Amino acid sequence: MKKAIYPGTFDPITRGHIDIIQRSLKVFDQLIIAVAKNEKKKPLFTVDERVHMIKEICREEPRVIVEPFDGLLVNYVKKKGIELVIRGMRAISDFEYEMQIALTNRKMDENFETLFFMPSIDYIYLNASVVRELAALGADLKTFVTSHVEKRLREKYPLN
Ligand code: COA
Repeated sequence: MKKAIYPGTFDPITRGHIDIIQRSLKVFDQLIIAVAKNEKKKPLFTVDERVHMIKEICREEPRVIVEPFDGLLVNYVKKKGIELVIRGMRAISDFEYEMQIALTNRKMDENFETLFFMPSIDYIYLNASVVRELAALGADLKTFVTSHVEKRLREKYPLN
């Protein structure tokens, strides 16, 4: 059984992330979506809320497992026995950061591998910060997130 881990903060999960999940499922039999607590990013949603939103989106996909993690990614993947991590590579601007974390992780664990998927061109510009800002300003979010996530964002910014 081919398994991989897709880690991220997912604050919140966007259609760009969903695109990467769908591409990963063409290659892997099981995908663990590992939601980083990532307190340093001061997330808008709690880790439980982020996990819940992803579970809701993936509820009809039995090959997806969603769970939170805290601490070093290398320790988490070792514990799982799946040292293969998926990341999305949206543009050249992602490259330096992604290379840094992939190589740092490999320095800490020589078996650690990172596999990059390129998202659809429709989502190449998208990130969670933009989505949160648009939500705060009351913009239409349909093209960026699912209706369930849009609803959760509206609850966070009730004035809009
Ligand atoms: N489509 C749309 N947006 C995407 C995307 C895609 N395919 N892929 C990433 N993004 C966005 C995210 O929404 C996020 O946006 P934001 O910064 O505006 O909120 C940004 O790109 C990067 O976020 P994310 O993919 O969540 O990664 P991250 O950099 O927040 O976290 C971890 C990556 C969780 C893998 C990393 O922080 C980690 O490993 N943490 C554990 C601690 C650790 O081991 N640290 C040492 C690392 S060397």
